[in-house]
Amino acid sequence: MKIKNVMVVGAGQMGSGIAQVFAQAEFNVILHDLKAEIVEKGMGYITKNMNRQVEKERMTREEADAVLTRLTPSTDLNNASDVDLVVEAVVENIDIKSKLFSHLDEITPNHAILATNTSSLPITEIAAATNRAGKVIGMHFMNPVPVMKLVEIIRGLATTDETYEAIEQTTKALDKVPVEVKDFPGFVSNRVLMPMINEAIYTVFEGVAEPEAVDEVMKLGMNHPMGPLTLADFIGLDTCLYIMETLHEGFGDDKYRPCPLLRKYVKAGWLGKKTGKGFFEYN
Ligand code: CAA
Repeated sequence: MKIKNVMVVGAGQMGSGIAQVFAQAEFNVILHDLKAEIVEKGMGYITKNMNRQVEKERMTREEADAVLTRLTPSTDLNNASDVDLVVEAVVENIDIKSKLFSHLDEITPNHAILATNTSSLPITEIAAATNRAGKVIGMHFMNPVPVMKLVEIIRGLATTDETYEAIEQTTKALDKVPVEVKDFPGFVSNRVLMPMINEAIYTVFEGVAEPEAVDEVMKLGMNHPMGPLTLADFIGLDTCLYIMETLHEGFGDDKYRPCPLLRKYVKAGWLGKKTGKGFFEYN
């Protein structure tokens, strides 16, 4: 199956990054969100990234403009009536995602694949909200999407080989590396990453070390590009908490219990970089 026309639903940090990499790879992309100002903000992020590519002489002005012309902003979901693929990147809430997939199932052509960028929710359950479970799949991009090479590809229980192969090829066309994993809470990326972040938060909670020290240990000692607490701030502490809760509930194992300090920060509205304060402060 040849994918050419794509809709990305959700123009936040992940959605706009996903839209950018599809447009760069010469797909026609509709960037959709509920509110025009969110779509504008997403388009602004992509424009800024394109301008930087021109400044760094990695792209000509014409090439950057061509990427931007392949992007169409949208606030009407019915614009999905002519796409081959939808990539959903909305809030991590199973009810919202299920309703959206049920709606997309009605709007999109029969051949269209519906992919979700969920970081930990069950693909099989999202697929069950549609009448095309064979064409529903997880396509989990990493943040920042334009930079990170990995896309975790997750099959639901009913996902067909044809759907998997189409998404594998599409991922390669984006110049990313697809890695197939099974549909279990947190998949592989967040099942391994989030308990490490949670444990880093426990070391602060228990007074083992200050946040700066925890990050220095992991950066200089393990060669991580960012310390776990900086990374948690970057991902969003609300997202980190949500993923830990999904792991805790999904496996019923207390080894995934979220650190009380993480809960406290989220309750305080200290969500990390996006709110200007998390484990560190941001201007
Ligand atoms: N959007 C676009 N490009 C970005 C960017 C962003 N948000 N942030 C950084 N970049 C680009 C920079 O522009 C720069 O590109 P150029 O060389 O073209 O200038 C390049 O990335 C490197 O950036 P910097 O030199 O500023 O900084 P750095 O070398 O420290 O790299 C980083 C930044 C790539 C983010 C690096 O710190 C890193 O790899 N951090 C870890 C990221 C990570 O672990 N991501 C996964 C998070 S988990 C996840 O996403 C899954 C989930 O479900 C929660």
